[in-house]
Amino acid sequence: MKSSPIIVALDFPSKNLALELVEKLEPSRCRLKVGKEIFTREGPQLVEELQKRGFDVFLDLKYHDIPNTVAAACRAAADLGVWMVNVHALGGEAMMEKAAEALAGYEKRPMLIAVTILTSMGGEDLIKIGLSESPEANVLNLAALAENSGADGVVCSPKEVTALRAARTAEFQLVTPGIRPEWAAKGDQNRITTPAQAINMGSNYLVIGRPITAADDPMEALGLIEQELSR
Ligand code: C5P
Repeated sequence: MKSSPIIVALDFPSKNLALELVEKLEPSRCRLKVGKEIFTREGPQLVEELQKRGFDVFLDLKYHDIPNTVAAACRAAADLGVWMVNVHALGGEAMMEKAAEALAGYEKRPMLIAVTILTSMGGEDLIKIGLSESPEANVLNLAALAENSGADGVVCSPKEVTALRAARTAEFQLVTPGIRPEWAAKGDQNRITTPAQAINMGSNYLVIGRPITAADDPMEALGLIEQELSR
């Protein structure tokens, strides 16, 4: 099945360590997220390698620049063949519109996802950068801007899923990290939900790192999450 909602975060410092995990995973049962650290170290060859093994790749580089530059980066991601790419909604309407336009012509178009407010930022942090409204209000505003500018969805905290589901169209995709099955360690994540809670609230994709990547048996961990979701 290519419809797995599970995206495994490949948060490793090297290709060898990442591939050690990937060897144990099945592309029919999860997708993979490649972020800034491993991409900066290993580059597009790693993405190609993962895709050659049959995995869909979410290229999590959170582009944020002038519209022309972001559009060009999105084209580069689409040429690489990734399944999902993301940008910062704070880059604004024109930037997201240009990104969406850049991707529109591709036969296998990557999904365009926006990041609204980083979950590491609280109300005080937002005030310091001139955003006086609450994090929640900013998330809703930026998600509306993202959808109206042609983005397919947003990355959001599970705690924001209910409000975003109510505010946005049914097609708008919600991608949520901060997922912890009951049996997994919390680590540094604070505002967490279980996989089933996130899906039941209306999340479309779950970004899950350590509960799978740090498990003694990653496929067993993935299997437990699948079981939880099928109940
Ligand atoms: O190991 P863990 O499940 O906490 O990994 C979650 C992944 O999602 C990491 O790659 C992390 O950077 C990412 N992420 C997050 N919270 C956000 C945005 C992204 O945990 N708000």
